[in-house]
Amino acid sequence: MTRILGIETSCDETAVAIVDNGHTVLANLIATQHELHRRYAGVVPEIAARAHIECLDLLVREAFVAANCTHDSIDAIAVTSHPGLIGSLLVGVTAAKTLAWAWGKPLVGVNHIEAHATSAAIDAPEPPWPAIALVVSGGHTSLYRVNDFHDVQLLGGTIDDAAGEAFDKVANILKLGYPGGPIVDQRAATGRADAVALPRTMLAHGSLDFSFSGLKTAVMYHVHGPGKTSGGLERLSPSDIDDICASFNAAVVDVLVRKTMLAAGAAKLRAVVIGGGVAANRLLRERMGEACAARKYTLHMTASAYCTDNAAMIAALGYHLLTAGRVSDLSLDARASLA
Ligand code: KG4
Ligand code: ZN
Repeated sequence: MTRILGIETSCDETAVAIVDNGHTVLANLIATQHELHRRYAGVVPEIAARAHIECLDLLVREAFVAANCTHDSIDAIAVTSHPGLIGSLLVGVTAAKTLAWAWGKPLVGVNHIEAHATSAAIDAPEPPWPAIALVVSGGHTSLYRVNDFHDVQLLGGTIDDAAGEAFDKVANILKLGYPGGPIVDQRAATGRADAVALPRTMLAHGSLDFSFSGLKTAVMYHVHGPGKTSGGLERLSPSDIDDICASFNAAVVDVLVRKTMLAAGAAKLRAVVIGGGVAANRLLRERMGEACAARKYTLHMTASAYCTDNAAMIAALGYHLLTAGRVSDLSLDARASLA
């Protein structure tokens, strides 16, 4: 049995988890900062970094209480080292290095996006690889070919807004609150998806890249009027807003499902996984399920608890990297970029 302490501070959630053998989650604690960022309708990096400092220590202690164990039983410490907000990442990486040094445990640096891409495996009976992974989060919208936990190849990604970012921006246009994804998801359930004609940007034939900024702009002009960036919201009834949410939600989901099917077809792979915050979206889960069933593909959807940022996925991937010998040393650096 190999027990990993995972630490995640790449954006606006401070998260700590304790996971055995990459799948048995003993503790999975998340301190969200949504309240701190809500009035800015987005994450303020400086505020995020300070909030991580304030609660990380306590969260590590609470994780040991929740898992009913002490640091003696930990075999390694896994931490998100990239990509993310540099100030936020630095807090987690510095804490993980300090604990690894003080407790004499191995340290494993984990790529946050690869953790999202492999998070469906936490609950899967067998690792689903090789598979096409769709990672849809606030900062990334990417398709990967996952050959194994430590062999993840990028096939395509967004050339402008990420899917989650588009959800947040549309929620902001409609003054629905932050983070926007879960609210738009909920409002969409009572709206009509064919109420507003919105674009589905597929880019060049066969392209596995994404673009959501045109869709966001189309919503903006629908609400404010052509070419306008403000006003008009007061003319809309609650059911008009539900309809806009449903139409936007359906447009995003359409593109995500079509591109994922395109990637699976091109790679001749019959297994699909989805992860990242937007993978919690109910319509996406439903439509991806239907598309995979129609082609007799197997679909592993990350459990909702592991879709939005969490440290269980960091500890889980950390376990597989550790067993593959991918250990970091105390010179591990936090990096803002994916590379
Ligand atoms: O993976 P995540 O927690 O953080 C990043 O790594 O970015 O993703 C957060 C994003 C936010 O943009 C949020 O609005 C979106 O995921 N999100 C959703 C849903 N739940 C969270 N988007 C659509 N539908 C949801 N149910
Ligand atoms: Zn994330």
